[in-house]
Amino acid sequence: MEVITQAREMLRKVQELRCSGKTIGFVPTMGALHEGHLQLLRASGRENDVTVCSIFVNPTQFNNPDDYTLYPRTLEQDSDLLESINCTYLFAPTAAEMYPQPSLLQFGFGALEGVMEGEKRPGHFNGVATVVSKLFHLVQPHRAYFGQKDLQQVAILRQLVQGLSFDLELVCFPTVREPDGLAMSSRNKRLTPEQRQQAIHLYKALQQAASQLSHTSVESIKQEAIAYLNAINEIEVEYFEIVDVLTLQPLQSINPQQEVAICVAAFVGEVRLIDNLLVNL
Ligand code: PAJ
Repeated sequence: MEVITQAREMLRKVQELRCSGKTIGFVPTMGALHEGHLQLLRASGRENDVTVCSIFVNPTQFNNPDDYTLYPRTLEQDSDLLESINCTYLFAPTAAEMYPQPSLLQFGFGALEGVMEGEKRPGHFNGVATVVSKLFHLVQPHRAYFGQKDLQQVAILRQLVQGLSFDLELVCFPTVREPDGLAMSSRNKRLTPEQRQQAIHLYKALQQAASQLSHTSVESIKQEAIAYLNAINEIEVEYFEIVDVLTLQPLQSINPQQEVAICVAAFVGEVRLIDNLLVNL
């Protein structure tokens, strides 16, 4: 695997690859790699001639400075993992390389960013859209892989790709979970053993809500889930929403055959986790 830290060098490399007819798969990450990331990378490896993984803890998408400072950084270990699954290129730029000057760009995603993560983390999706646009320009992928775990991020990035005519296929990969159901996340590394146990209840609450959807009102499902989670010692719910899977707008009631997503964000101790389940009624 070749490690590239300079933006120009990355661009030169992919231009060469494209000229020689190779297809490029791209998995953008912030590192602290886990099995969720690795499954995206393996999918890319199967479907493309070369795979680029980027590791960049993007400062512009963190609305909370502590979250940025405490975000796990394990570059050496990540690099070994990437070697072991035959990733072709690791692009690991510094913040100064990606942002020689502070970015002044402003994206707007309308109602898509007025809910859930967009509402609770002001500026977050502006930072995501900025960095992903820059990375798409530097890596020029044929296919880019993202996880359903960040459902709203995928919806926003679909708008970005369409709105700016990026010539690539955006692939959304199902959420990879621990054996007990907890969605894999780099932030799980920050949980104490006790918090790690309690975090399982996020998935349990989503499953419980899914099982009630056909016969209970949306409002009572939400209230019950929030009460269930908040009763657990270290958990504090930020939102628990039942939304239309495409528009991400909260639903008051559910029609037969509607595709919905049940989404949760909660603090487990100091660590903010998100998860979601898709339900096809
Ligand atoms: P990060 O949180 O590192 O996630 C990188 C990719 O892995 C994202 O597409 C995310 O949805 C996916 N992913 C994370 N956990 C997953 C899981 N348990 N199962 C399946 N996929 C999972 O998301 C980001 O980084 C950043 O916002 C980024 C897109 C890199 C822009 O900075």
